[in-house]
Amino acid sequence: MAFGADSWHVSLRGMQEEYVTTMHTDPRTVVFSPARLAGLQLRNRVIKTATYEGMCPGGSPSDALIRHHRELAAGGVGMTTVAYCAVSPNGRTFEAQMYMRAAIVPKLQELTAAVHAEGAAVSIQLGHCGYFSRNTALPGRRSLGPSFAINEYGLMSGIPFAKAMTEDDIATVIDDFGAAAARAVEAGFDAVELHLGHGYLLSQFISPATNRRRDRWGGSLDNRMRLPLAVLQRVRERVGPHCAVLAKTNLRDGFKGGLELDEAVGVAQRLEGAGIDAIVLSGGFTSKTPFYLFRGAAPLKQMIEVEHSRLHKLMLRLFGRYAIKAYPFKELFFLEPARAVRQAVRVPLVLLGGALSIDSLETAMREGFDFVAMGRALIADPDLVNRMQRGEATRSRCNSCNQCVAEMDRHGVRCVLG
Ligand SMILES: Cc1cc2nc3c(=O)[nH]c(=O)nc-3n(C[C@H](O)[C@H](O)[C@H](O)COP(=O)(O)O)c2cc1C
Repeated sequence: MAFGADSWHVSLRGMQEEYVTTMHTDPRTVVFSPARLAGLQLRNRVIKTATYEGMCPGGSPSDALIRHHRELAAGGVGMTTVAYCAVSPNGRTFEAQMYMRAAIVPKLQELTAAVHAEGAAVSIQLGHCGYFSRNTALPGRRSLGPSFAINEYGLMSGIPFAKAMTEDDIATVIDDFGAAAARAVEAGFDAVELHLGHGYLLSQFISPATNRRRDRWGGSLDNRMRLPLAVLQRVRERVGPHCAVLAKTNLRDGFKGGLELDEAVGVAQRLEGAGIDAIVLSGGFTSKTPFYLFRGAAPLKQMIEVEHSRLHKLMLRLFGRYAIKAYPFKELFFLEPARAVRQAVRVPLVLLGGALSIDSLETAMREGFDFVAMGRALIADPDLVNRMQRGEATRSRCNSCNQCVAEMDRHGVRCVLG
């Protein structure tokens, strides 16, 4: 692909069309122009990425969750993403997390209708936590993962160990992803995002650090990708032709022995081969390198404040400063590794990580990405896209203090800048 100042190529693979068109226009125009994502027409190329809302008391979507996504939609994004929804009760990291079931479909229908009324599309992130769980409702108080593991996160909740999944466990997870995706379509979602990153179950299967299986589900990258691809295939069968299927993947796990970029490229190639509609490029492993995902400050004081369990509070006080490493923030912090994926696949890619400004959006377009996802910038300024488009703003107020990460466990995610 060649890029000039005002004449450059934009791939329209997102439209699943067999051609590349040359647009004699500037990247800013492209960001704010309608774009296709599989069968969907988005009004622009900005996606609100999944940021756990903390607005599902009892695991059920609330009016606050609807208001949150309506506000984001009214603020101009092309598509908003409802964050982590477990595909089954056992796929919850903790009990207050939403999990997909018939009873919540009517409330989710309200949510999707509210977003659509504001002119945006809406996706839902579907995931399973695997071994990374402190959900005391787990049968036998034992979480499941690709291999036996010590579950540091659940230690204080009486879930110290994870069991290696059996063939039956794996078959159940595939069924659960399919059923959850079918319900998402019933609830009016335009897209589902499969969580293959951040150290959740499918990421645990992909990562060489957590998947030490010697059967067909472990070992080579082909084997480690077998479950994510089986999930993708089942989801595709269950959602029908009108729902876009995205995957959020890791560029790097962020620790020694974890997934590295060369294999991350292989992950993207395999997803492309299996017909994914778009890949959201992220990184980090929540149980080991949580702030690799975000970059910026680690708000330990606020995390201790909002922690409900006394034991967890104590552990955070004693060891938090050693266990939770902060990483310096820089705008578009995943751009460099994401370029390697861009060069290797033709499938639509969503650039994520530290997109704060109109410059970030333009750079993403210039670098050949099809969409840009924003998290914290839109928590701080839900109407940023509209204001940028009208020329009233050039960047978000977000200063990566990351207090929103603690706030989601207080009264729901919000920006402390007010
Ligand atoms: C408060 C908060 C909650 C998050 N929850 C999720 C989540 O549920 N699922 C997920 O994939 N990523 C989650 N993330 C990570 C974001 O999706 C994104 O990868 C990260 O914030 C980097 O993007 P940004 O720099 O635009 O914020 C969360 C981030 C924040 C700040």
